[in-house]
Amino acid sequence: MIGKLRARLLLSRAKHPSLRGHAKMSLRVARLFPFFEYGEDEFLGVDGAPPDVVAKRRESFDRLAGELSSRAPKTLELSRELEDELPDVEFVNAHRVPFPFRNAVASRLRIGSVVAETDGLRVRDLDGNWSYDLGGSYGVNLFGHEFYKGCMERGFAAARALGMTLGDYNPIIADNVARLRRISGHDEVSFHMSGTEAVMQAVRLARYHTGRSHVVRFCGAYHGWWDGVQVGIGNPRPAHEVYVLKEMDETTLRVLETRDDVACVLVNAVQAMHPNGLPPGDSTLLSSDRAASYDKEAYRSWLHDLARVCRRRKLVLIVDDVFLGFRLALGGTQEYFDVRADLVTYGKSVGGGLPVGVLCGRRDLMRRFRDDRPMDVCLARGTFNSHPVVMATMNEFLRHVDREEVRASYGEVDRSWNARAERLNRALASRDLPVRLVNMTSIWTTLYTRPSRYNWMLQYYLRLHGLKPSWIGTGRFIFSHDLDDAGFSAIADRFVAAAEAMQDAGFWWQSSKVTNGSIKKDIVRDLLSAAVAGPSRLLAHEPRPSDPATRL
Ligand SMILES: Cc1ncc(COP(=O)(O)O)c(C=O)c1O
Repeated sequence: MIGKLRARLLLSRAKHPSLRGHAKMSLRVARLFPFFEYGEDEFLGVDGAPPDVVAKRRESFDRLAGELSSRAPKTLELSRELEDELPDVEFVNAHRVPFPFRNAVASRLRIGSVVAETDGLRVRDLDGNWSYDLGGSYGVNLFGHEFYKGCMERGFAAARALGMTLGDYNPIIADNVARLRRISGHDEVSFHMSGTEAVMQAVRLARYHTGRSHVVRFCGAYHGWWDGVQVGIGNPRPAHEVYVLKEMDETTLRVLETRDDVACVLVNAVQAMHPNGLPPGDSTLLSSDRAASYDKEAYRSWLHDLARVCRRRKLVLIVDDVFLGFRLALGGTQEYFDVRADLVTYGKSVGGGLPVGVLCGRRDLMRRFRDDRPMDVCLARGTFNSHPVVMATMNEFLRHVDREEVRASYGEVDRSWNARAERLNRALASRDLPVRLVNMTSIWTTLYTRPSRYNWMLQYYLRLHGLKPSWIGTGRFIFSHDLDDAGFSAIADRFVAAAEAMQDAGFWWQSSKVTNGSIKKDIVRDLLSAAVAGPSRLLAHEPRPSDPATRL
């Protein structure tokens, strides 16, 4: 009894104190959290800026809205149609900025969701506007758009005779398996259709072979959108058999040392930039307290401690390298941080431009049945797994990364990307712009150094200046490694110009009364008054004629 209580207490201490660490509580709060918004007249002055500053903001906002819409009429028209029919588009458009500003901003600053062409580092919309791609196609784009076009073209040609035959394999799979075994350092390989499914299979196998129930994952880390690992806000179902623990924390190691129900531990090393933090989207950029820093040695040391405990306790250590695999080093997180996992997942780029998930692991853990218990199997299927064309495009990718000059280039990733970040930060500092960039190799995040409620506006000024972030805005830029110095200079110049335009527009107006703390207090006040005012004041969004509720 006392032992159980002690274990329970230790588990509570290993949870992050924020809502992120408490999935059930966060779901309850999410259901109660009321909507409120700043209307057209007030949204540019909610920080108490004087009328002349608000007027300057409005003038710049109107100009921005005019330019973004007049230069892309076809792109915006099609995007608007899609918004009504593709919930994905509707969702991202509703989550580009903090929700109290959503309606006032989204109705004027329209963002296109369709592109017609890519060329090198740039993408073109339907109206002929070229922009530098900072979104990186969710991280798939590691070697540049032209590279993937080549993989896809050659891959389709190589698999043409096979078409879509499934069940039997494209013989090229043998070469993929051999290369993936060498790169991952593991015995066996399985192919899936997405990173989410590779993670699902890793977790399922870990449970099967250990006979234990629980998955440990770290606060804030993303591992795909499957219920079994995506817990808390984003997944309306309560999570079962998942412990969300603090990363880089001694108490977590003590939990792992003592509990007997843990099957596996999932790690996504991009969290090294913001341990226990959520992926940094601009929709949560309420003030200027977004934090990120990157200490490679500290994270390496954490991973080593974690791996040691997992080894001692026979917990399956799963390195989820769907995002970082092939980006940090040829051998991904394992090689870059010199740590050995039991299972490793890959995805995104390794498909050579087509959808894929890969799992590599120790032979005993990858086995899906037991010789002595014929009915006790661990099923994994998926109609399109090992699709012949995907195997061919993957082979193009794997051959490329195995080339001597590509292998050698990984030795430079830290030095070259750090130098670029420093260069851009120097340019921003020398112009007294309150923006800095933090990077983990080619993955960058934007920090804001002056308290402000309007930092999320930067994503629109970036677009105006020909830079195209993903829908999460300035929180994450993902660069491709084909970016040369001239390309980087062009991006850096545009970035500085965008920040200057935003500064000139008065969005970083300063007052001793405005601090990150005062901003939070103002938001809580607005939230409470919205809650008290009731739903009639809260529901600003008029149902559209196409909404099902309207049709009934
Ligand atoms: C670390 C990690 N794991 C899993 C996934 C899920 O992969 P997919 O989107 O291919 O299902 C992602 C996707 O972003 C990821 O970053």
